Order: sequence, then C-alpha cells, then structure tokens
Amino acid sequence: MTEFIHRFEPATTAGSPPLLLLHGTGGDENDLLGLGKMISPGSALLSPRGRVLEHGMPRFFRRLAEGVFDEDDVRRRAIELGEFVADVRKQHGIAAPVAVGFSNGANIAAALLLLQPDALAGAILLRAMAPLSDPPKVELDGKPVLLLSGQGDPIVPASNSGQLAALLLEAGARVDHRVLPAGHQLTQADVTLARNWIGSVEAKAA
Ligand code: MLT
Repeated sequence: MTEFIHRFEPATTAGSPPLLLLHGTGGDENDLLGLGKMISPGSALLSPRGRVLEHGMPRFFRRLAEGVFDEDDVRRRAIELGEFVADVRKQHGIAAPVAVGFSNGANIAAALLLLQPDALAGAILLRAMAPLSDPPKVELDGKPVLLLSGQGDPIVPASNSGQLAALLLEAGARVDHRVLPAGHQLTQADVTLARNWIGSVEAKAA
C-alpha cells in the first residue's frame, strides 16, 4: 500500500458522513480541515497530502501544462489514493467518505469516481475539470455529486466543467451543477451551498 502523509480527525457526531479532503496545487493536508468542519461539523476528516511535487508544490497527479494532464499518472494515482482510503477505512472503521476536493483535489476526486466508484459515497467538486479524455464505462448508480464552478474561472473553461457534469450524469450520478459568480478561488457561497447540500444528502440517507 502507498502511504500518504495525512491528517485524520475522528468523528465527534455519530452518523455524520466521513469527508475525504483533497487540497489544490501547492496545498497540503492542513488546508481543507477548516472547510471540512464548516461543511459538516462532527464528521470524521481524512486529509492526505498529494504525493506528486511540481516545483516543490504538492499535487495529486502530474500535469504536462496547466489543464493538460498526464492521464496515465491520473489513473495510477487515483488507484493509489483509493487503496489508501480503503486502508484508512479499515483501520478506523469508517464508512466510505464523501470527497471534498478543490481544484487539483477536485480533479483527482472526479478521477476516483470514474475509476473506483466504490471508494466514495459522493463528492463535492470545487472548480473541477474532466480528468480523463476517455474514461471507462462506469455505473455511479445515483451517487450524489455537487459540482461548483466559477463563471469567471481562468483555469477551468465552462465547456470543460460542463463536459464533466455530462460525463457524471451519463454514468448515473445524481449531479447538482451550479455555476457561481466567482473565479477559481472559493467564496462564501461555495461553503454555504456545500453545507446545505451535504445536509440534504444526509437527510436522504437517514
Ligand atoms: C490541475 O492541474 O489539476 C488543474 O489545472 C487545477 C490546478 O491545480 O491548477
């Protein structure tokens, strides 16, 4: 098994969905802990650091240029991450997590959904792009996905996030795609929408 430097915080409220927090380029395992607590206070938090370094900046997979991905590496790293999550779940006895990924972290979360759907109970994808040009056929069977894009995002073209939403819908995910008046950075609206969404997902699961 591939080890990831990570933070794990156990749940403080029984029954809240564990969150898998996946940071953006240049971030680390500490970045999204605060966001995770705002979105779902009481959830167990698992927050790994990406194992790829780009000029010293951690990422979850290699890219050839901005928005141009090394897709073999995407596939390999997504599988590694899935194995790590399975191992931590066993160790701590937690349910499949909902991924909360920002930027590069959202892109690896989308790859994980497409390549190893059982690894996740759902996903909140913040400023995500389609991670694979030719993803395998997969059955997402109603898995809930919240995709939050920025209308003025200079990194993610609207056509690309639209393509990701279409791909996930076609695979059977229950996709809620919102385009916010924002750029690549997160805003208060992201936090509010993510918190409300996870509350509604929990209510449906109960
Ligand atoms: C990526 O490389 O995953 C995307 O371009 C987003 C980023 O990390 O800048």
